[in-house]
Amino acid sequence: MAEVRLEGLGKSFGTSRAVTGMDLVIADGEFVVLLGPTGAGKTTTLRLIAGLERPDAGSIRIGEEDVTGLSPAERDVAFVFQQYSLYPHLSVFDNLAFPLKSPARRWSAGEIDARVRDIARMVRIDHKLDSKSTKLSGGEMQRVAIGRALVREPSIFLMDEPLSSLDAKLRADLRLELKRIQSEIGATLLYVTHDQIEAMTMADRIGILAEGHLTQIGSPREIYTAPANLHVAARLGHPHINLIKPGLLPCQSMPDGVRTIGARTEHILVEAAASVAQGNGRVDWIEHLGDQNHLHILVDGQKITLLADPYSGFKAGDPVSVSLKQPLFFGADDRRITDV
Ligand SMILES: Nc1ncnc2c1ncn2[C@@H]1O[C@H](COP(=O)(O)OP(=O)(O)OP(=O)(O)O)[C@@H](O)[C@H]1O
Ligand SMILES: [Mg+2]
Repeated sequence: MAEVRLEGLGKSFGTSRAVTGMDLVIADGEFVVLLGPTGAGKTTTLRLIAGLERPDAGSIRIGEEDVTGLSPAERDVAFVFQQYSLYPHLSVFDNLAFPLKSPARRWSAGEIDARVRDIARMVRIDHKLDSKSTKLSGGEMQRVAIGRALVREPSIFLMDEPLSSLDAKLRADLRLELKRIQSEIGATLLYVTHDQIEAMTMADRIGILAEGHLTQIGSPREIYTAPANLHVAARLGHPHINLIKPGLLPCQSMPDGVRTIGARTEHILVEAAASVAQGNGRVDWIEHLGDQNHLHILVDGQKITLLADPYSGFKAGDPVSVSLKQPLFFGADDRRITDV
């Protein structure tokens, strides 16, 4: 495995800029997740690293080598695509063995067999080794696609939303598996997704991508608790962060120059009020999610949503007192005000 270094990387398609001035170092053995909405430039970034697109600015280093001008075959990367791409006429075994059969590797049949079985066990597909890949479920196909990347030992794994087509349960299982496998083999991995839960649970560091710009990179905790700006703050957190004007809710202390307050569940105190006159808001409705509720509150016509204990006893129409405790503050330029 190796460190991967992007410097000033840029790519346009005609007049549209897909990736702009991207600087990013992925350390050897690090799991970095790029998180961004559709069209943010996630796939383009991966394709640039793999050599499937030529950058029009900047450079890419893998380990000691500048690979910017090299063909995909000359770069030591393994790519798992957004749409799984198995060889339909081959069995699961042969799909997994395929990357090992290149003449350059000179692996014996015994070595290939052992490696394929090892990886198949790791991605839990060993019971289907003899099946045709067309006979697999979507989740099984995706396991094979991930396995086919893992059989090689490339400098870096590039994964493009590999779990997005799976159902929620399988996605949650594979998330954990992938993280386990990655740390077990010490893989350098760049993974792109628009799913904040995948980013939060798997990443050593999350990079937030917006319109081709890497706006912030840091540990999941840093990105969540200290977002650089409103855009980053809005990428993480469920329910969505509440963006409110100063003065709407009581707040113990507030720095100068605040234009927007960002309030997540943990920044909001809600207490039952004895009457409408004694509170400053009322419960609008409650969304039951099973283990948790979303409590929707109206304060002066503005909706505020937070997580609530299902046994909190609130019901629609209840008067409440709502206040803030240490929320996030953003200035006129949408950047977070850090000297609070
Ligand atoms: N081959 C191409 N030709 C023209 N424009 C392209 C091409 N590939 C990507 N783009 C444009 O570049 C921008 C970034 O696309 P990209 O595929 O990298 O986004 P993404 O973040 O992967 O989105 P998604 O989440 O939908 O997969 C988009 O505006 C897209 O339309
Ligand atoms: Mg994409």
